[in-house]
Amino acid sequence: MIVVTGATGNIGRPLTKALAEAGEQVVAVSRHAAEVPDGVRHQVADLSDPASLDLSGAKALFLLLSGDLHAVGARPAELVERAAAQGVRRVVLLSSLGVRTRPFGTTRVELRGLEDILRNSGLDWAVLRPGGFASNALWWAEAVRTQRTVAAPFGDTALPIIDPADIAEVAAAALRSDRNGVLELTGPEVITPRQQAEAIAAALGEPVRFHELTRAEAKAGMEQLMPGELADDTLDILGSPTPDEVAVSPDVEQVLGRAPRTFADWTARHVEAFR
Ligand SMILES: NC(=O)c1ccc[n+]([C@@H]2O[C@H](COP(=O)([O-])OP(=O)(O)OC[C@H]3O[C@@H](n4cnc5c(N)ncnc54)[C@H](OP(=O)(O)O)[C@@H]3O)[C@@H](O)[C@H]2O)c1
Repeated sequence: MIVVTGATGNIGRPLTKALAEAGEQVVAVSRHAAEVPDGVRHQVADLSDPASLDLSGAKALFLLLSGDLHAVGARPAELVERAAAQGVRRVVLLSSLGVRTRPFGTTRVELRGLEDILRNSGLDWAVLRPGGFASNALWWAEAVRTQRTVAAPFGDTALPIIDPADIAEVAAAALRSDRNGVLELTGPEVITPRQQAEAIAAALGEPVRFHELTRAEAKAGMEQLMPGELADDTLDILGSPTPDEVAVSPDVEQVLGRAPRTFADWTARHVEAFR
């Protein structure tokens, strides 16, 4: 049996589906009750309280920690200890490319520490380090629906954003493999926010205006969703990416045997959110 945390999110939904379709017994974990694919069992647990997570009978665990966990003082290392104590043999941790490219700031230091704890746990392990997600474009959905406008900072700075469905497919493969290692996950090409707005317009078949926000305007909006420190870190990446953050990684293609999906592909599958 494979336990998937973050099971109702951008990665977790396609991941539980892919594992179930591959014939695995899957337990989908989130705090709120939710519909899950046929044959999948749902478990309510809060990762800020490791004792609430029942891993008995699980051979593998997909561990996805939402960004606000550290804000509530959670100790995710206990989740790894709990996995080992309950007989789990393999953990696949969703980390972040920023752990390597910007190894400072509280959340990244903690995430790096968790990677190290997993590596030294005696469990089989894989660490997935994705860059920015295509699904972050859903932040623009309401403004596109109501004003046909994308408002974003750094309109002409390109990054190789990744489709969460590709992260899910790589995670499914990693959970069913016995190879330890770090995989860095990006999309197939770099794309700017202005080009993302054009892709959304093409999918809608209607013009979408691009309005460039200042960094301060963008930060004010992002602080509704994340701590100020994380908003600043994210804005640093969006505005001044390092060479490592604009590089396209070969890892998705090496694992899946095909190129990563494009932003246009993600947009075509999510166009209703923008209509
Ligand atoms: N967005 C990016 O560009 C980016 C880049 C690199 C890494 N990441 C990482 O990707 C992860 C987010 O992945 P995602 O987009 O798939 O997530 P998401 O769509 O935001 O979904 C989060 C999932 O986690 C569950 N969850 C949240 N808090 C929980 C808790 N305390 N206990 C148990 N379950 C909890 C949610 O369900 P409930 O609310 O019902 O609990 C939901 O199933 C984060 O770790 C983030 O740091 C994101």
